[in-house]
Amino acid sequence: MPVPLLDLKAQHATIRDDVVAAVMDVVDSQLFILGEPVAALERAVAELSQTKHAIGCANGTDAILLAMRALDVGRGDEVITTPFTFFATAGTIHNVGATPVFVDIEPDTFNIRPDAVAAARTSQSKAVIPVDLFGQMAAIEAVSAAVPGLPVIEDAAQSIGARRRIDGAWRMAGEAATIGTFSFFPSKNLGGFGDGGMLVTQNDEIAERLKRLRVHGGAKQYFHDEVGYNSRLDALQAAVLSAKLPHLAGWSAKRRENAAYYDAAFAGLSDVRTPYVSPENESIFNQYTIRVPRRDELQASLKARGIGSSIYYPLPLHLQPCFAYLGYKQGQCPESERAAGEVLSLPIFPELTHAQLDEVIAGVRAFFGA
Ligand SMILES: Cc1ncc(COP(=O)(O)O)c(C=O)c1O
Repeated sequence: MPVPLLDLKAQHATIRDDVVAAVMDVVDSQLFILGEPVAALERAVAELSQTKHAIGCANGTDAILLAMRALDVGRGDEVITTPFTFFATAGTIHNVGATPVFVDIEPDTFNIRPDAVAAARTSQSKAVIPVDLFGQMAAIEAVSAAVPGLPVIEDAAQSIGARRRIDGAWRMAGEAATIGTFSFFPSKNLGGFGDGGMLVTQNDEIAERLKRLRVHGGAKQYFHDEVGYNSRLDALQAAVLSAKLPHLAGWSAKRRENAAYYDAAFAGLSDVRTPYVSPENESIFNQYTIRVPRRDELQASLKARGIGSSIYYPLPLHLQPCFAYLGYKQGQCPESERAAGEVLSLPIFPELTHAQLDEVIAGVRAFFGA
C-alpha cells in the first residue's frame, strides 16, 4: 500500500465546499489586494497567537525579512540563528545585508541552544532568530534571557498554534517574541493554495512599520517614508486560510495522535530514536522526525515499498556552499551535523489511516529486522 509523505487531496476533500465558497466570494467581489479577507485572517491569527497584531505578507521568507527590516537589521549587523533549519531563516539575514552567526542545537528537540546564543553575542549582534522546528517551540524565554535587550524574531513557519508553558502559563508560538513569523506554504499545518505568510507582534510601532514595509514603505499611497517591498498576502489566499483555520486545532491534534501511535510502535526498536517533545511543549507535529543509523538505506527501503519520507535537512546551513564566505568548518556545530546525517521525517498528516500508519511501521520494522 503506497503511503505518501503528505496527501493534500485527502484533506481538501473534507473541506472543499467551504473553501470553494470562500474563494468564489473573493472572485465575485473582484477585490484581490488586501481588504477585508486579509484583515479577517489577521484578526483570527492574532487571536490564536494571543498577540495584539498580525500582519499578512507574501510568504514565510518575506515575513522574516520584513521582521528584520522593522528592527533596523542591516549592513554590519550580526544575527544569531540555528544552522539546522530551512534555508530561508539564514538566507534572509544575508539578504538584508547582515551576517548570519550560526550556533548549535539541542540534540533532543533540534532547537537552538540558549547558552550557545549567549556565547555568540558580540557588540554587533542586532537580533536572534530561534526556529520552532518541526512543530515544537524553541525555548523562547531562555533564548530571550540569554541575550537581554536583543530583539527575538521567532521563526514559527512550521509551528502555528504550537504552545509552550512559560512561567506556568501557556504561551503560543509567536506570542512571547518581539516578532513571530509564520508560513502558509501548502505543506504547513495551515497551508494555502500557494504562498502566504504572516507576522505577529505585541508592539504597536513595529506593527505599523510592518504594514508600511509590505507596501513599498509608504503609509499613504505614492508617498514613501522608506524603501519597502511588495509583500502582501493575496485576498484569495486569506479566504482559503480563513476557511481552513477553524480546522487547524483538530488537524494538529490528529497529528499528535499519529505521533503517539508511531511512538508506541517504535518503543521496542533500539535503532529508532523517536521525536522528543519537552514536557513544557505541545507540538503541532508539522513533521515526525526520527533519528536512525543507516538513514539513507532506510529511506530507499521505504521508497521501494511506496512509502514517502524526507530528509529535513541534509546539510546544515553553516556548511552550505553559499555561506563558505563566513568561514565555518565541519565540526563547528556538531549536533546539527550529526542530526543532518540521521534524521528522517515520516508521513504524519492528519488524514492517515491506521492501515497506512501500520504500513509505515511495518516498513521501518522490516528494515531493522524487527
Ligand atoms: C523554518 C522555516 N522558515 C522559513 C520558511 C519560509 O517560508 P515560505 O516557504 O513560506 O517562504 C519555512 C518554510 O518553507 C520554514 O520551514
